[in-house]
Amino acid sequence: TRVAILISGRGSNMEALADDIEANHHSTICLVVANKPCTGIDSAAARGIPTKIVNRSNFDTREDHDHAMCAILADAEPDYIFMAGYMAIVGAAFIDRFTARILNIHPSLLPAYKGLDTHERALADGAKQHGVSVHIVSEQLDDGPIILQAALTINPEDTATTLATRVLALEHILYPLVLSSLAHGDLELSHSGVKWHNRE
Ligand code: GRF
Repeated sequence: TRVAILISGRGSNMEALADDIEANHHSTICLVVANKPCTGIDSAAARGIPTKIVNRSNFDTREDHDHAMCAILADAEPDYIFMAGYMAIVGAAFIDRFTARILNIHPSLLPAYKGLDTHERALADGAKQHGVSVHIVSEQLDDGPIILQAALTINPEDTATTLATRVLALEHILYPLVLSSLAHGDLELSHSGVKWHNRE
């Protein structure tokens, strides 16, 4: 299974995917693409993974940037595109080019807390639970069919920092699990949604 990973920052989810692939050989990272220079792209390159920066600031419109991203991704021939801290919304043309093959990971129990500052908002609301969601990317931010979620209980002593750390640890388990499940045929994504198969 060939996976391309889109990043904008630290790239710890990209590293978790790369570590799991190194250990279990279920997939190949055909390309890591960033929309700006970032530490994650340097870590990917240091691992010998093909990388590209398609700098958003070199493009006038989101459509032009999407177009360039699409062309580069199509060349890499990924089966799936995993967004991992990719801080941009992609347009309909991009999504339609890779129907039900673009995934995102988000640090909340969707549909709660789409967007930024999820840990702060969960705490401010006095939420009892928090967590992480992997979903198929649609045109709306942090929307689209949910593939897998993991929850944790918020403790009275939790701060945004401790929550972020604990949620990130779940992310590093969940995203590789989703990729290996796709690679093994245990999970199937299509325009009609998400299907988990029973293993005989
Ligand atoms: C993660 O919390 C991810 O869920 C969110 O952005 C963060 C990216 O972290 N979309 P990293 O770049 O993978 O370390």
